[in-house]
Order: sequence, then structure tokens, then C-alpha cells
Amino acid sequence: MCGLLGAVSPRNIVPILVEGLKRLEYRGYDSCGIAVHQNGALRRSRSTARVAELDALVARDGVEGGTGIAHTRWATHGAPAVHNAHPHFSHGAGDDAVTRRPGRIALVHNGIVENHERLRARLEARGYAFASQTDTEVIAHLIDLHYDGDLFEAVKRAAVELEGAYAIAAFCRDEPLRVVGARKGSPLVLGLGEGETFLASDAMALAGVTERIVYLEEGDVADLQPGRHWIEHRPEGADRWQRVEREARRVPAWTGAAELGPYRHYMQKEIFEQPRAIADTLEGVEGIAPDLFGDRAHRVMGEVDRVLVLACGTSYYAGLTAKLWFESIARIPTEVEIASEYRYRDSVPHDRTLVVTISQSGETADTLSALRHARSLGMTRTLTICNVATSAMVRECMLAYVTRAGVEIGVASTKAFTTQLAALHLLALALAPVRGRLPDADAERHLAAMRHLPVAMQAALALEPQVIAWAERFAVRQHALFLGRGLHYPIALEGALKLKEISYIHAEAYPAGELKHGPLALVDAQMPVVAIAPNDALLEKLKSNLSEVRARGGELSVVADRDSALAAADGMHVIRLPDPVGALSPITHVVPLQLLAYHAAVIRGTDVDKPRNLAKSVTVE
Ligand code: M6R
Repeated sequence: MCGLLGAVSPRNIVPILVEGLKRLEYRGYDSCGIAVHQNGALRRSRSTARVAELDALVARDGVEGGTGIAHTRWATHGAPAVHNAHPHFSHGAGDDAVTRRPGRIALVHNGIVENHERLRARLEARGYAFASQTDTEVIAHLIDLHYDGDLFEAVKRAAVELEGAYAIAAFCRDEPLRVVGARKGSPLVLGLGEGETFLASDAMALAGVTERIVYLEEGDVADLQPGRHWIEHRPEGADRWQRVEREARRVPAWTGAAELGPYRHYMQKEIFEQPRAIADTLEGVEGIAPDLFGDRAHRVMGEVDRVLVLACGTSYYAGLTAKLWFESIARIPTEVEIASEYRYRDSVPHDRTLVVTISQSGETADTLSALRHARSLGMTRTLTICNVATSAMVRECMLAYVTRAGVEIGVASTKAFTTQLAALHLLALALAPVRGRLPDADAERHLAAMRHLPVAMQAALALEPQVIAWAERFAVRQHALFLGRGLHYPIALEGALKLKEISYIHAEAYPAGELKHGPLALVDAQMPVVAIAPNDALLEKLKSNLSEVRARGGELSVVADRDSALAAADGMHVIRLPDPVGALSPITHVVPLQLLAYHAAVIRGTDVDKPRNLAKSVTVE
């Protein structure tokens, strides 16, 4: 999704902006651009191609300067086209509008301005000419409208009028050594260098530039000048700005993760990193204790008698799996809600609830808003399972378990998912004793099984050649059906999501017992059916469901266990995981499904790491 940068320095900052945009590329974008202050004017280059092409463009155009901003855009308002790409310039009223001279404000923006139509009408009435269909352009004009020689003041006045979510960076033709940033609802950080100051939507964009990072908070506006900064804050509902100090933290540079090594795509690399990611996530876990989740966890876990999980996409499926662990291991009633739905319905809050958010990025707008909504309903005991220690999610939750999947670049979540599952299983084990469940010996047995996971994952990854043979059959199909039962229904959902998001094959998932209530009508020789069939208590039931598919000529691809007693036959392909892991089997059984989606996508020639229309981190609603 959109990413932004800003910089003010005595040196030419264009190479830093280009490098920063490259680091943000993994988030997904459809256009990009850079603007600088150059010889008393605003200069910019924009492109609907990749950042590498923008790099060539700025070199060709001779765009350089010490004050500038940059952006990767993921279109929400207006098609992906150069005239909609950021940075946007204000086109001044009166003469400027007639001569079409670029105005004096340059701006980049992440988020959505919800009142943009009203603002646009007002600005047009004041003579401002619009050059794009974006909601962003209104902000540039609005700042221009409020400008009377002080950009910082103008941004503050404009910010008060904006509804919705934004992180912005702006500079002005008339103030060469100044960049101003503001945030509400979208992340924004400052990077503090020697004699230079930076802005970015993600600290990762500044890796290699500075490790001193200041996290701006909701309602902050920051004034950046070379080597110094000033922050003011306006609390929600207040009518005055006050100066605030925000602590600078050391955020170590992001190293190594960007190397593809022997892999063809980041997704493939990340699938194969899973044994290591799970081992890292469990590192230091000597025993099961609430304090794995934070200092206050013991008290908080003793105060709750139900769990509410809030998440989106793959993280939501991790939540669906966790519900079954929470209820069977800790006997705690659990609800799992799609975050984007939860906050818009009239739910019944329960005071003694542990609100658990799950998020790879920790910046997903829907999940953050759902968390805030739950808190506003009085459910203040919050815990997050998150992969980014410095994210808004971790900062806003009372308790946290930070997974150590490492940076995930592929848009399709893989190692983030399996490490979330590992952390959620730990949470089930931690909640259980507080509720008088799970004697020490059982906890030790569970933990031993978890420590074995990296070995079992390795064995699952070794099945890749067999999965490639499956992928060749799937790649020529338009549809697929995924079936699972119990703990493996969410895994079927995840397998279907992986296949559709990167190969663009339409896929649906059902609990296998639901088949005869409707979806069986879809089954014929053209509909490949994937079933997840570990050797668990539901295996015999599942086999009956699979017979229903075979009887209708459906072709089955079954992910079974070594001892699942399912024989391959004509129209029935079986892959066996050699190392069964009991109740942890969702973590291993998802691996062949990730590989299936990956190889089907490679055969179909899609952009595996950056599938069309999708973004890695969904920071707008
Ligand atoms: O960063 P988050 O875990 O909060 O992201 C949630 C979803 O956007 C994410 O899982 C998405 O569904 C992935 N593309 C799935 O592969």
C-alpha cells in the first residue's frame, strides 16, 4: 500500500529517496514519484512503472536537491496514472490557475480523505484548478489556501479540516529548507541524522540512512529542518496545539532480509524460512508462563473469562485456528471477528474479555480501528500477536507477543502465518493454567511438541517436488475447492486464499461436512478438490465426504499424514506429511498448500511477490 518519504539535508537527497522507495516496494504500489526543491522551484518526476524506472527518470530529468518528498501510490481515488501519482502540487488561485504554473506546495499522502468532495468544491470555488482525480490533491490546495509564509502553521490549519486518515509530507517553494509532516490514522516516523532529518511511513524505508527513529503519534504535526525538528500535538476534540517531545528510539537497520539468495521469489524464500522463523519465535521460551506476553499478563489473564480475536485476511484464519485451541486447551470461550466488520456492527461488549489482535504488519487500518473500537466499548485488556515490534499495534496493546518471522516481503503471508499460529498455541497454553487447566506435565509435553515443529516443517518442505506435479494440473484450471474439518477448516480457507491471491485461480473453502449442503453441485471432472486430511479424530468423517466427491467424478488432491490410511488411486492424489505433530498439524499442513499456490502462480507467470491490485500492508480502510 502507499509509502512515503521526506528529507531535508544539505546534500542531494534524491538517491536516498529512491533507495527508500525501493525498500517500500514490497508493500505493493501502482505508481511512484519524487519531488524536490530545485533552483527556487518545485521539480518532480512521476511514473506508473517500477521505482527502477523512476530512478532513471529523475536522472534523465536532472531532478536533484536537498529538500524533497517521495511516494509509492496504491490507487484508491483515481486510476493508476501519472497525473494521479504523488507528489501533487498546489495550483494557486487566480493567475496561477490560468497560467497553470505549478503552485508552491508539494505534497505526498497515505490514507483517505473522507471529506475530499466537500473540500474540493470549496477549493474550486476559490479558484483552485485540479489536475487529478485523487482525494490527496485537496490537501495540497488546502495547505496553499492557509499559507501565509509559514508552512508549519498552514499544515496545522489544514489538518484540522481533514476527515479520515492521513500521513502527509509537504514542502513549500518559498521555504527551501523545511519539510512538514502530519499523521492521523496512518503511520509516520521521523529519522534523525547528522545535520539532516527524514520522514517515512515505515522505519524500514530509512534503513542504512539512520537508526534514530521517532514514532509520531495520532494528531502530531512535525516541522523538519536540517538536523532539527519540532513536534506539536492536538488531542482529539481540543482546539489548541501544544508542543510535545517524542522519544527517539534506536531501530537497528534491516539487514540481510532483502537478499533473495538461491530463491526465485521472496514468497518461495519465506516459505522455506519457516523452520527458522518458528525456531526464532520460540527462542527463549523455557516454560509456559503468562509473562511471556508481558509483565501484566498474569493479572490480566486472571481477570478475563472470554477472548475476542480481531484480525483480517490470513491473520483472521490464524484466529479461527486459535479459537479451537483456546477452547479445547484453556476452555475459554472465544469469538473471532473480521476486523473490518466488527467495528461497524452493534456488538455486545463483555467487560471480562481479552481482546486479541493478530497482525503481521501491526499497521493494518481495519485491525487497528477494531482494536480502538473494542477499547471504546470498555474492553481494555488487549493483547497482540504481531511481527513488528515497533508497530502501532504493539504500542497500543497492553500485552504483546512479537513473532520473529523476520521481514516478510511477499504480499502473500506465509511465515508470518505459521509463526502467528505458534504464538497463538503458546497463548492457549499460557491461558490454561490460569483457568485451572493443563497440569505442568501436559504443558511440558505440548512445549516439547512445539520445539519439534521446525524439524516437522522441514519434512513438509521436502515434499516440494510432489507439490510441483500437483501445481502443473492446477495451473490450467479456473476454479478449485478446498475442504477441511475442525482445526483444518481454517487451513483450507488459507490454502484457497493463497491460491487465489497469487495465481488468480478462483478458489473457495468449505468445512467438508458442509459439502452436501450446496457446494457439491459444483463438483465435476473440471473442479479440482483439495482436502486436508491429517490422522485426527475427524479423519473417518472426512473420508466419507471425499467419497461424495469421487462419486461425482471430482479429482481429489489430499494432504494427508504418514498414517492417514488413504490410498492414492485414479483421480485421487495423496501427499503424506512424514512427521505428524498432533494438534499442531495446521502449522505443517499449510506448507504444501503454500507451495501449491506458489508453483501454480509461477507456471501461470503471475507477479508472485506483488500480485495485481494487492498491497502488503493495508493501511487504509
Ligand atoms: O498485516 P496483517 O496481518 O494485519 O494483514 C492482514 C491481511 O491484509 C493479510 O493477511 C492478507 O490477507 C495477506 N495478503 C494474505 O496473504
